Amino acid sequence: MRVSALFRQAGIIAGDGLGELFDVVTLLAHQRLPAGRRLAIVGNAGGPLILAADAAAAAGLELPELAEPTRRALTGLLPPGAAVANPVDTIASVSGDAFEQALRTVSADGGIDAVLAVIAPTPLTGRDDLTVAAAAVTAVSTTPLAAVVLGQAPRVRTLTAPAQPGEPAPGAVPAFAVPEDAGRALSLAAEHAQWLRRPRGSVPAFDDVTPAGARDIIEAALADRSEGCWLRPTVAADLLAAGGIPVARPEHAVSAQMAADIAGRIGGPVALKAANPDLVHKSDRGGVRLDLATPADAAQAYRSMWAALGEAMGGATVQPMIAPGVETLVGIVQDPAFGPLIGFGLGGVLTDLLADRSYRLLPLTDRDAAELIRSLRGSALLFGYRGSPPADVAALEDVLLRVAQLADDLPEITEMDVNPLIVHEHGAVAVDVKIRVARVPRTPDPILRRLR
Ligand SMILES: Nc1ncnc2c1ncn2[C@@H]1O[C@H](COP(=O)(O)OP(=O)(O)OP(=O)(O)O)[C@@H](O)[C@H]1O
Ligand SMILES: [Mg+2]
Repeated sequence: MRVSALFRQAGIIAGDGLGELFDVVTLLAHQRLPAGRRLAIVGNAGGPLILAADAAAAAGLELPELAEPTRRALTGLLPPGAAVANPVDTIASVSGDAFEQALRTVSADGGIDAVLAVIAPTPLTGRDDLTVAAAAVTAVSTTPLAAVVLGQAPRVRTLTAPAQPGEPAPGAVPAFAVPEDAGRALSLAAEHAQWLRRPRGSVPAFDDVTPAGARDIIEAALADRSEGCWLRPTVAADLLAAGGIPVARPEHAVSAQMAADIAGRIGGPVALKAANPDLVHKSDRGGVRLDLATPADAAQAYRSMWAALGEAMGGATVQPMIAPGVETLVGIVQDPAFGPLIGFGLGGVLTDLLADRSYRLLPLTDRDAAELIRSLRGSALLFGYRGSPPADVAALEDVLLRVAQLADDLPEITEMDVNPLIVHEHGAVAVDVKIRVARVPRTPDPILRRLR
Protein backbone atom coordinates (compact mmCIF):
# COMPACT_ATOMS: atom_id res chain seq x y z
CA MET A 1 0.00 0.00 0.00
CA ARG A 2 2.68 2.47 1.03
CA VAL A 3 5.01 1.37 -1.76
CA SER A 4 2.36 1.66 -4.46
CA ALA A 5 1.49 5.20 -3.30
CA LEU A 6 5.18 6.15 -3.44
CA PHE A 7 5.58 4.58 -6.88
CA ARG A 8 2.61 6.56 -8.10
CA GLN A 9 4.04 9.77 -6.66
CA ALA A 10 7.42 9.14 -8.30
CA GLY A 11 5.88 8.28 -11.69
CA ILE A 12 6.92 4.64 -11.57
CA ILE A 13 4.63 2.37 -13.57
CA ALA A 14 4.03 -0.59 -11.30
CA GLY A 15 2.51 -3.57 -13.05
CA ASP A 16 0.99 -6.42 -11.13
CA GLY A 17 3.67 -9.02 -11.78
CA LEU A 18 6.13 -9.72 -14.55
CA GLY A 19 3.49 -10.49 -17.20
CA GLU A 20 1.91 -7.06 -16.81
CA LEU A 21 5.35 -5.48 -16.89
CA PHE A 22 6.04 -7.02 -20.30
CA ASP A 23 2.57 -5.98 -21.49
CA VAL A 24 3.07 -2.33 -20.67
CA VAL A 25 6.67 -2.27 -21.89
CA THR A 26 5.59 -3.75 -25.23
CA LEU A 27 2.88 -1.13 -25.53
CA LEU A 28 5.15 1.79 -24.61
CA ALA A 29 7.98 0.55 -26.83
CA HIS A 30 5.80 0.84 -29.93
CA GLN A 31 2.98 3.27 -29.27
CA ARG A 32 2.65 6.83 -28.02
CA LEU A 33 1.16 7.53 -24.61
CA PRO A 34 -2.61 7.98 -24.78
CA ALA A 35 -3.67 11.54 -24.04
CA GLY A 36 -6.50 10.27 -21.84
CA ARG A 37 -8.64 7.29 -20.94
CA ARG A 38 -11.14 7.40 -23.83
CA LEU A 39 -10.92 4.15 -25.74
CA ALA A 40 -12.60 3.03 -28.96
CA ILE A 41 -12.89 -0.69 -29.61
CA VAL A 42 -13.24 -2.10 -33.12
CA GLY A 43 -13.69 -5.83 -33.70
CA ASN A 44 -15.08 -8.44 -36.03
CA ALA A 45 -16.99 -10.58 -33.50
CA GLY A 46 -19.73 -9.48 -31.09
CA GLY A 47 -18.97 -11.74 -28.11
CA PRO A 48 -15.28 -10.86 -27.79
CA LEU A 49 -16.18 -7.17 -28.23
CA ILE A 50 -18.46 -7.29 -25.21
CA LEU A 51 -15.74 -9.01 -23.18
CA ALA A 52 -13.21 -6.41 -24.33
CA ALA A 53 -15.56 -3.56 -23.40
CA ASP A 54 -16.02 -5.05 -19.92
CA ALA A 55 -12.28 -5.56 -19.50
CA ALA A 56 -11.58 -1.96 -20.54
CA ALA A 57 -14.14 -0.60 -18.12
CA ALA A 58 -12.74 -2.77 -15.33
CA ALA A 59 -9.31 -1.30 -16.05
CA GLY A 60 -10.71 2.21 -15.64
CA LEU A 61 -10.96 3.13 -19.31
CA GLU A 62 -13.95 4.91 -20.81
CA LEU A 63 -15.80 3.99 -24.00
CA PRO A 64 -17.37 7.26 -25.16
CA GLU A 65 -19.76 7.56 -28.08
CA LEU A 66 -18.02 8.14 -31.38
CA ALA A 67 -18.57 11.47 -33.09
CA GLU A 68 -21.44 11.63 -35.58
CA PRO A 69 -19.14 12.05 -38.64
CA THR A 70 -17.14 9.02 -37.50
CA ARG A 71 -20.27 6.91 -37.24
CA ARG A 72 -21.49 8.10 -40.60
CA ALA A 73 -18.16 7.24 -42.22
CA LEU A 74 -18.21 3.80 -40.59
CA THR A 75 -21.70 3.11 -41.88
CA GLY A 76 -20.44 3.87 -45.38
CA LEU A 77 -17.44 1.60 -44.99
CA LEU A 78 -18.68 -1.46 -43.23
CA PRO A 79 -20.91 -4.31 -44.39
CA PRO A 80 -24.66 -4.05 -43.70
CA GLY A 81 -25.43 -5.23 -40.17
CA ALA A 82 -22.31 -3.66 -38.66
CA ALA A 83 -22.72 -1.72 -35.38
CA VAL A 84 -21.09 1.71 -35.45
CA ALA A 85 -21.47 2.63 -31.78
CA ASN A 86 -18.51 2.03 -29.45
CA PRO A 87 -17.58 -0.86 -29.52
CA VAL A 88 -17.69 -0.98 -33.32
CA ASP A 89 -18.75 -4.41 -34.58
CA THR A 90 -17.56 -4.72 -38.17
CA ILE A 91 -19.13 -8.22 -38.25
CA ALA A 92 -17.20 -11.23 -39.44
CA SER A 93 -17.66 -10.68 -43.18
CA VAL A 94 -15.59 -7.46 -43.11
CA SER A 95 -12.72 -7.31 -45.61
CA GLY A 96 -9.17 -6.52 -44.56
CA ASP A 97 -9.41 -3.21 -46.40
CA ALA A 98 -12.64 -2.17 -44.74
CA PHE A 99 -11.25 -3.17 -41.31
CA GLU A 100 -8.20 -1.00 -41.96
CA GLN A 101 -10.38 1.94 -43.03
CA ALA A 102 -12.57 1.51 -39.95
CA LEU A 103 -9.52 1.60 -37.66
CA ARG A 104 -8.22 4.70 -39.43
CA THR A 105 -11.57 6.44 -39.19
CA VAL A 106 -11.92 5.73 -35.48
CA SER A 107 -8.28 6.74 -34.82
CA ALA A 108 -8.99 10.12 -36.38
CA ASP A 109 -11.96 10.78 -34.06
CA GLY A 110 -10.87 13.69 -31.82
CA GLY A 111 -12.86 12.33 -28.89
CA ILE A 112 -10.76 9.15 -28.69
CA ASP A 113 -7.37 8.71 -26.99
CA ALA A 114 -6.59 5.11 -27.96
CA VAL A 115 -7.99 2.34 -30.14
CA LEU A 116 -8.19 -1.38 -29.47
CA ALA A 117 -8.67 -3.76 -32.40
CA VAL A 118 -10.26 -7.04 -31.33
CA ILE A 119 -9.60 -9.70 -33.90
CA ALA A 120 -11.22 -13.13 -33.91
CA PRO A 121 -9.96 -15.47 -36.63
CA THR A 122 -12.90 -16.64 -38.76
CA PRO A 123 -13.16 -18.58 -42.02
CA LEU A 124 -14.60 -15.44 -43.66
CA THR A 125 -11.32 -13.51 -43.83
CA GLY A 126 -7.84 -14.59 -44.84
CA ARG A 127 -5.68 -15.82 -41.97
CA ASP A 128 -3.79 -12.57 -41.43
CA ASP A 129 -5.99 -10.01 -43.22
CA LEU A 130 -7.08 -8.20 -40.08
CA THR A 131 -3.74 -8.22 -38.24
CA VAL A 132 -2.08 -6.87 -41.38
CA ALA A 133 -4.77 -4.17 -41.49
CA ALA A 134 -4.02 -3.14 -37.88
CA ALA A 135 -0.29 -2.98 -38.56
CA ALA A 136 -0.89 -0.83 -41.64
CA VAL A 137 -2.94 1.66 -39.63
CA THR A 138 -0.28 2.27 -37.03
CA ALA A 139 2.19 3.27 -39.75
CA VAL A 140 0.02 6.29 -40.55
CA SER A 141 -1.85 7.09 -37.34
CA THR A 142 -0.59 8.84 -34.21
CA THR A 143 -3.44 7.58 -32.03
CA PRO A 144 -2.17 4.74 -29.84
CA LEU A 145 -3.37 1.39 -31.16
CA ALA A 146 -3.31 -2.04 -29.54
CA ALA A 147 -4.85 -5.31 -30.62
CA VAL A 148 -6.31 -8.43 -29.10
CA VAL A 149 -5.87 -11.46 -31.33
CA LEU A 150 -7.94 -14.30 -29.98
CA GLY A 151 -6.22 -17.65 -30.14
CA GLN A 152 -2.68 -16.31 -30.38
CA ALA A 153 -0.22 -18.31 -28.29
CA PRO A 154 2.02 -15.62 -26.76
CA ARG A 155 0.61 -13.39 -24.04
CA VAL A 156 1.84 -10.38 -26.02
CA ARG A 157 3.61 -9.99 -29.37
CA THR A 158 3.86 -7.25 -32.00
CA LEU A 159 2.20 -6.93 -35.38
CA THR A 160 4.39 -5.17 -37.92
CA ALA A 161 3.71 -4.12 -41.49
CA PRO A 162 6.46 -4.90 -43.98
CA ALA A 163 8.72 -1.89 -44.56
CA GLN A 164 8.39 -0.18 -47.94
CA PRO A 165 11.67 0.24 -49.80
CA GLY A 166 13.17 3.64 -48.95
CA GLU A 167 10.61 4.30 -46.18
CA PRO A 168 11.30 4.34 -42.44
CA ALA A 169 10.26 1.19 -40.62
CA PRO A 170 6.55 1.38 -39.72
CA GLY A 171 5.41 1.17 -36.15
CA ALA A 172 4.28 -2.01 -34.51
CA VAL A 173 1.03 -2.84 -32.82
CA PRO A 174 1.22 -4.70 -29.52
CA ALA A 175 -1.12 -7.68 -29.78
CA PHE A 176 -2.44 -9.34 -26.64
CA ALA A 177 -3.98 -12.78 -26.33
CA VAL A 178 -6.75 -11.59 -24.00
CA PRO A 179 -8.54 -8.23 -23.64
CA GLU A 180 -7.90 -8.00 -19.88
CA ASP A 181 -4.16 -7.62 -20.48
CA ALA A 182 -4.69 -5.05 -23.21
CA GLY A 183 -7.02 -3.03 -20.98
CA ARG A 184 -4.60 -3.00 -18.04
CA ALA A 185 -1.63 -2.03 -20.22
CA LEU A 186 -3.57 0.83 -21.84
CA SER A 187 -4.79 1.98 -18.45
CA LEU A 188 -1.28 2.01 -16.96
CA ALA A 189 -0.04 3.96 -19.98
CA ALA A 190 -2.87 6.49 -19.61
CA GLU A 191 -2.12 6.85 -15.91
CA HIS A 192 1.53 7.51 -16.67
CA ALA A 193 0.63 10.11 -19.30
CA GLN A 194 -1.54 11.82 -16.73
CA TRP A 195 1.37 11.80 -14.27
CA LEU A 196 3.66 13.40 -16.86
CA ARG A 197 1.12 16.14 -17.54
CA ARG A 198 0.37 16.96 -13.92
CA PRO A 199 1.61 20.29 -12.59
CA ARG A 200 4.55 19.55 -10.32
CA GLY A 201 3.82 22.21 -7.72
CA SER A 202 6.62 23.87 -5.82
CA VAL A 203 8.46 23.34 -2.58
CA PRO A 204 7.89 26.49 -0.54
CA ALA A 205 10.78 27.93 1.44
CA PHE A 206 9.59 29.15 4.83
CA ASP A 207 11.73 31.99 6.07
CA ASP A 208 10.42 31.64 9.60
CA VAL A 209 11.62 28.05 9.94
CA THR A 210 14.80 28.29 11.98
CA PRO A 211 16.90 25.23 11.26
CA ALA A 212 19.69 26.80 13.32
CA GLY A 213 17.47 26.86 16.41
CA ALA A 214 16.21 23.39 15.63
CA ARG A 215 19.74 22.14 15.06
CA ASP A 216 20.86 23.49 18.46
CA ILE A 217 18.02 21.58 20.10
CA ILE A 218 19.07 18.36 18.36
CA GLU A 219 22.78 18.84 19.09
CA ALA A 220 22.03 19.40 22.77
CA ALA A 221 19.93 16.22 22.89
CA LEU A 222 22.58 14.16 21.11
CA ALA A 223 25.52 15.59 23.08
CA ASP A 224 25.58 12.68 25.50
CA ARG A 225 23.18 10.29 23.69
CA SER A 226 24.95 9.73 20.39
CA GLU A 227 23.13 6.42 19.92
CA GLY A 228 19.94 8.45 19.59
CA CYS A 229 16.99 9.12 21.86
CA TRP A 230 13.39 10.25 22.08
CA LEU A 231 13.24 13.95 22.93
CA ARG A 232 11.50 14.99 26.12
CA PRO A 233 7.98 16.28 25.35
CA THR A 234 8.91 19.91 26.12
CA VAL A 235 11.98 19.68 23.87
CA ALA A 236 10.04 17.97 21.07
CA ALA A 237 7.50 20.78 21.23
CA ASP A 238 10.31 23.37 21.09
CA LEU A 239 11.70 21.70 17.98
CA LEU A 240 8.32 21.76 16.27
CA ALA A 241 7.83 25.40 17.27
CA ALA A 242 11.24 26.20 15.75
CA GLY A 243 9.75 24.89 12.52
CA GLY A 244 6.97 27.46 12.79
CA ILE A 245 4.33 24.86 13.68
CA PRO A 246 1.69 25.86 16.25
CA VAL A 247 2.07 23.71 19.38
CA ALA A 248 0.18 23.50 22.64
CA ARG A 249 3.45 24.09 24.51
CA PRO A 250 3.86 21.76 27.48
CA GLU A 251 5.75 22.77 30.58
CA HIS A 252 7.46 20.27 32.84
CA ALA A 253 6.36 19.78 36.44
CA VAL A 254 8.03 17.54 39.00
CA SER A 255 5.54 18.13 41.81
CA ALA A 256 1.84 18.72 42.34
CA GLN A 257 2.64 22.28 43.42
CA MET A 258 4.55 22.96 40.21
CA ALA A 259 1.70 21.53 38.15
CA ALA A 260 -0.69 23.90 39.96
CA ASP A 261 1.62 26.86 39.37
CA ILE A 262 1.88 26.15 35.64
CA ALA A 263 -1.88 25.70 35.39
CA GLY A 264 -2.31 29.05 37.16
CA ARG A 265 0.02 30.72 34.68
CA ILE A 266 -1.77 29.18 31.70
CA GLY A 267 -4.95 30.50 33.21
CA GLY A 268 -7.51 28.20 31.58
CA PRO A 269 -8.33 24.53 31.55
CA VAL A 270 -5.21 22.37 31.15
CA ALA A 271 -4.17 18.84 30.25
CA LEU A 272 -1.67 17.04 32.47
CA LYS A 273 0.31 14.12 31.06
CA ALA A 274 3.01 11.73 32.19
CA ALA A 275 6.29 13.13 30.82
CA ASN A 276 8.32 9.93 30.47
CA PRO A 277 9.03 9.78 26.73
CA ASP A 278 9.38 5.99 26.86
CA LEU A 279 5.78 5.62 28.04
CA VAL A 280 3.81 4.79 24.91
CA HIS A 281 0.04 5.21 24.79
CA LYS A 282 -0.01 7.38 27.86
CA SER A 283 -3.78 7.57 27.93
CA ASP A 284 -4.10 3.76 28.13
CA ARG A 285 -1.95 3.83 31.27
CA GLY A 286 -3.82 6.64 33.00
CA GLY A 287 -1.11 9.08 31.92
CA VAL A 288 -3.38 11.69 30.35
CA ARG A 289 -5.77 13.86 32.36
CA LEU A 290 -7.84 16.37 30.44
CA ASP A 291 -9.99 19.42 31.16
CA LEU A 292 -8.48 20.32 34.51
CA ALA A 293 -10.30 23.56 35.25
CA THR A 294 -8.32 24.95 38.18
CA PRO A 295 -4.78 24.80 39.56
CA ALA A 296 -6.13 22.69 42.41
CA ASP A 297 -7.51 20.19 39.87
CA ALA A 298 -4.08 20.06 38.21
CA ALA A 299 -2.36 19.39 41.54
CA GLN A 300 -4.87 16.67 42.37
CA ALA A 301 -4.39 15.05 38.93
CA TYR A 302 -0.62 15.07 39.46
CA ARG A 303 -0.97 13.33 42.80
CA SER A 304 -3.32 10.64 41.56
CA MET A 305 -1.15 9.98 38.48
CA TRP A 306 1.90 9.66 40.72
CA ALA A 307 -0.01 7.22 42.91
CA ALA A 308 -0.89 5.10 39.84
CA LEU A 309 2.36 5.24 37.85
CA GLY A 310 5.10 6.05 40.36
CA GLU A 311 8.58 6.60 38.89
CA ALA A 312 7.36 5.56 35.42
CA MET A 313 5.47 8.84 35.29
CA GLY A 314 8.71 10.79 34.75
CA GLY A 315 7.17 13.98 36.09
CA ALA A 316 4.35 15.60 34.16
CA THR A 317 3.75 18.07 31.41
CA VAL A 318 1.03 20.65 31.72
CA GLN A 319 -0.36 22.27 28.59
CA PRO A 320 -3.43 24.29 27.66
CA MET A 321 -6.56 22.43 26.60
CA ILE A 322 -7.12 22.80 22.89
CA ALA A 323 -10.63 23.08 21.42
CA PRO A 324 -11.95 19.95 19.72
CA GLY A 325 -11.47 19.58 15.97
CA VAL A 326 -10.43 16.89 13.51
CA GLU A 327 -7.64 14.83 15.07
CA THR A 328 -4.97 14.01 12.53
CA LEU A 329 -1.54 12.46 12.59
CA VAL A 330 1.51 13.97 10.92
CA GLY A 331 4.81 12.22 11.02
CA ILE A 332 8.19 11.37 9.62
CA VAL A 333 9.18 7.75 9.10
CA GLN A 334 12.30 6.28 7.56
CA ASP A 335 11.83 3.85 4.72
CA PRO A 336 14.79 1.59 4.00
CA ALA A 337 14.41 2.09 0.23
CA PHE A 338 12.97 5.60 -0.04
CA GLY A 339 14.56 7.45 2.91
CA PRO A 340 12.50 9.88 5.00
CA LEU A 341 8.78 9.97 4.22
CA ILE A 342 6.05 12.31 5.36
CA GLY A 343 3.09 10.46 6.80
CA PHE A 344 -0.42 11.79 7.24
CA GLY A 345 -3.45 10.07 8.67
CA LEU A 346 -6.48 10.21 10.87
CA GLY A 347 -5.15 10.65 14.38
CA GLY A 348 -6.28 10.53 17.98
CA VAL A 349 -6.47 7.46 20.15
CA LEU A 350 -8.20 5.42 17.39
CA THR A 351 -5.38 5.98 14.90
CA ASP A 352 -4.04 2.41 14.99
CA LEU A 353 -7.53 0.96 14.72
CA LEU A 354 -8.44 3.10 11.71
CA ALA A 355 -4.97 2.73 10.12
CA ASP A 356 -6.00 5.37 7.58
CA ARG A 357 -2.61 6.78 6.57
CA SER A 358 -0.74 7.82 3.49
CA TYR A 359 2.89 8.66 2.75
CA ARG A 360 4.84 10.90 0.39
CA LEU A 361 8.46 11.28 -0.63
CA LEU A 362 10.59 14.31 0.10
CA PRO A 363 10.88 17.03 -1.00
CA LEU A 364 7.16 17.67 -0.59
CA THR A 365 5.59 20.13 -3.01
CA ASP A 366 2.45 22.13 -2.26
CA ARG A 367 0.61 19.82 -4.70
CA ASP A 368 1.89 16.73 -2.90
CA ALA A 369 0.64 18.16 0.39
CA ALA A 370 -2.78 18.96 -1.08
CA GLU A 371 -3.03 15.46 -2.54
CA LEU A 372 -1.82 13.81 0.65
CA ILE A 373 -4.57 15.54 2.62
CA ARG A 374 -7.16 14.22 0.16
CA SER A 375 -5.76 10.71 -0.09
CA LEU A 376 -7.29 9.15 3.02
CA ARG A 377 -10.44 7.08 3.09
CA GLY A 378 -11.57 9.47 5.80
CA SER A 379 -10.43 12.73 4.17
CA ALA A 380 -14.05 13.86 3.93
CA LEU A 381 -13.92 14.50 7.71
CA LEU A 382 -11.76 17.54 6.92
CA PHE A 383 -14.15 19.03 4.43
CA GLY A 384 -17.26 19.50 6.52
CA TYR A 385 -18.61 16.00 6.95
CA ARG A 386 -22.31 15.77 7.81
CA GLY A 387 -22.81 19.27 9.02
CA SER A 388 -19.48 19.78 10.83
CA PRO A 389 -17.63 22.94 9.80
CA PRO A 390 -14.88 22.39 7.24
CA ALA A 391 -11.42 22.22 8.80
CA ASP A 392 -8.65 24.67 7.93
CA VAL A 393 -7.03 22.60 5.21
CA ALA A 394 -4.65 25.44 4.30
CA ALA A 395 -3.27 25.42 7.86
CA LEU A 396 -2.91 21.64 7.70
CA GLU A 397 -1.09 21.90 4.39
CA ASP A 398 1.22 24.47 5.94
CA VAL A 399 2.05 22.09 8.80
CA LEU A 400 2.79 19.22 6.39
CA LEU A 401 5.11 21.41 4.31
CA ARG A 402 6.89 22.67 7.40
CA VAL A 403 7.34 19.16 8.80
CA ALA A 404 8.71 18.16 5.39
CA GLN A 405 11.17 21.02 5.49
CA LEU A 406 12.32 20.00 8.98
CA ALA A 407 12.79 16.42 7.77
CA ASP A 408 14.74 17.70 4.79
CA ASP A 409 16.92 20.14 6.75
CA LEU A 410 17.49 17.85 9.71
CA PRO A 411 18.12 14.22 8.77
CA GLU A 412 18.85 13.59 12.47
CA ILE A 413 15.06 13.54 12.96
CA THR A 414 14.72 9.81 12.40
CA GLU A 415 11.11 9.62 13.53
CA MET A 416 8.36 12.07 14.30
CA ASP A 417 4.83 11.39 15.43
CA VAL A 418 2.54 14.35 15.96
CA ASN A 419 -0.67 12.75 17.17
CA PRO A 420 -2.96 14.46 17.42
CA LEU A 421 -2.55 17.55 15.33
CA ILE A 422 -5.98 19.03 16.00
CA VAL A 423 -7.28 20.86 12.94
CA HIS A 424 -9.89 23.51 13.62
CA GLU A 425 -12.07 25.69 11.46
CA HIS A 426 -9.24 28.21 11.79
CA GLY A 427 -5.75 26.86 12.36
CA ALA A 428 -4.21 23.59 13.47
CA VAL A 429 -2.38 22.83 16.73
CA ALA A 430 0.03 20.01 17.60
CA VAL A 431 -0.99 18.52 20.91
CA ASP A 432 1.17 15.41 21.40
CA VAL A 433 4.63 15.42 19.81
CA LYS A 434 7.13 12.57 19.78
CA ILE A 435 10.48 13.00 18.04
CA ARG A 436 13.37 10.59 17.88
CA VAL A 437 16.80 11.91 16.91
CA ALA A 438 20.01 10.09 16.03
CA ARG A 439 23.27 10.75 14.22
CA VAL A 440 22.92 9.84 10.54
CA PRO A 441 24.90 10.56 7.38
CA ARG A 442 24.18 14.17 6.40
CA THR A 443 23.59 14.03 2.68
CA PRO A 444 20.42 12.50 1.26
CA ASP A 445 20.95 9.65 -1.16
CA PRO A 446 21.14 11.27 -4.64
CA ILE A 447 19.53 8.25 -6.28
CA LEU A 448 16.49 8.53 -4.04
CA ARG A 449 16.29 12.23 -4.86
CA ARG A 450 16.28 11.46 -8.57
CA LEU A 451 12.98 9.65 -8.09
CA ARG A 452 11.27 13.03 -7.76
N1 LIG B 1 -4.05 19.62 25.31
C1 LIG B 1 -5.09 18.91 24.87
N2 LIG B 1 -6.20 19.52 24.50
C2 LIG B 1 -7.26 18.81 24.04
N3 LIG B 1 -7.28 17.47 23.93
C3 LIG B 1 -6.19 16.80 24.30
C4 LIG B 1 -5.03 17.48 24.76
N4 LIG B 1 -4.10 16.56 25.04
C5 LIG B 1 -4.63 15.36 24.76
N5 LIG B 1 -5.89 15.49 24.31
C6 LIG B 1 -6.81 14.40 23.90
O1 LIG B 1 -6.34 13.19 24.48
C7 LIG B 1 -5.96 12.26 23.50
C8 LIG B 1 -4.70 11.50 23.94
O2 LIG B 1 -3.67 12.39 24.27
P1 LIG B 1 -2.17 12.20 23.81
O3 LIG B 1 -2.12 12.07 22.35
O4 LIG B 1 -1.38 13.28 24.42
O5 LIG B 1 -1.75 10.86 24.52
P2 LIG B 1 -1.69 9.36 23.89
O6 LIG B 1 -1.84 9.46 22.44
O7 LIG B 1 -2.63 8.52 24.64
O8 LIG B 1 -0.34 8.91 24.24
P3 LIG B 1 0.60 8.19 23.21
O9 LIG B 1 0.77 9.21 22.13
O10 LIG B 1 1.79 7.90 24.03
O11 LIG B 1 -0.15 6.98 22.71
C9 LIG B 1 -5.77 13.09 22.25
O12 LIG B 1 -6.00 12.33 21.09
C10 LIG B 1 -6.78 14.19 22.42
O13 LIG B 1 -8.06 13.75 22.03
MG1 LIG C 1 -0.92 10.81 21.07
